[in-house]
Amino acid sequence: MATKRTRLDRYLSSALRINRRDVKPLLAAGRVRVNGAIARDSDLQINQFAVVIVDDKTLPHEQAQYLMLNKPAGILSATIDASQRTVFALLDAVQHAGLHIVGRLDKNSTGLLLLTNDGEWSRGLMAPEQHVEKTYIVGVKHAISEECVEAFAKGIHFPFEDIVTRPARLEVLAPQLARITLTEGRYHQIKRMFGRFRNPVLSLHRTQIGAITLDPALPSGAYRALLGTELECSTVRGGRSLP
Ligand code: URA
Repeated sequence: MATKRTRLDRYLSSALRINRRDVKPLLAAGRVRVNGAIARDSDLQINQFAVVIVDDKTLPHEQAQYLMLNKPAGILSATIDASQRTVFALLDAVQHAGLHIVGRLDKNSTGLLLLTNDGEWSRGLMAPEQHVEKTYIVGVKHAISEECVEAFAKGIHFPFEDIVTRPARLEVLAPQLARITLTEGRYHQIKRMFGRFRNPVLSLHRTQIGAITLDPALPSGAYRALLGTELECSTVRGGRSLP
């Protein structure tokens, strides 16, 4: 998940096989563009996805990948597991080598799972201080009480971590069905919150992370690349707080 950052002069010297002191005149002459803009600073930090062009030649760079997957039930959100199938079995192993999961789902949970090789992007979405909203449709065994809705909105104490959950929005859609919006991702959070009301979770389906919504045309087990617009929204408006 590490982002590989390097100084521009070091990268140019290695990619062009020239001495580091010969890089400066190239930069000074405005012959180098990084992600479309002329770069003149030798110590500019670039990552592995930066598109660096010298005159008209594009230098080698890694391709950033961003996927949405409609996770089926019964499969692990993990990179590798000794005995169980993981979501990576659903991807093309060669084409998507080096991806990581952005925010896991439990084995029996379904729905929106994001995968990428861009560590900066995933950290931006998942950093606790960003409070990015995650939305789930949850089916439970017993009717959801008003007391439960209020407790979710106020926060619930988890003694193991000694924390109080951040305010969560619980919209009751039918007596045993709700839409829940969280701005954090604690271990088994939704199951534990309903557990406090002795109301077992029967189904849990994630529909949204920040501004990215699960494509309703994506069948269970299928995936696709994120669209430019989805990517833009997730970067610009990822971190919204609940009112
Ligand atoms: N909360 C849970 O309990 N499980 C999930 O998979 C996601 C949120």
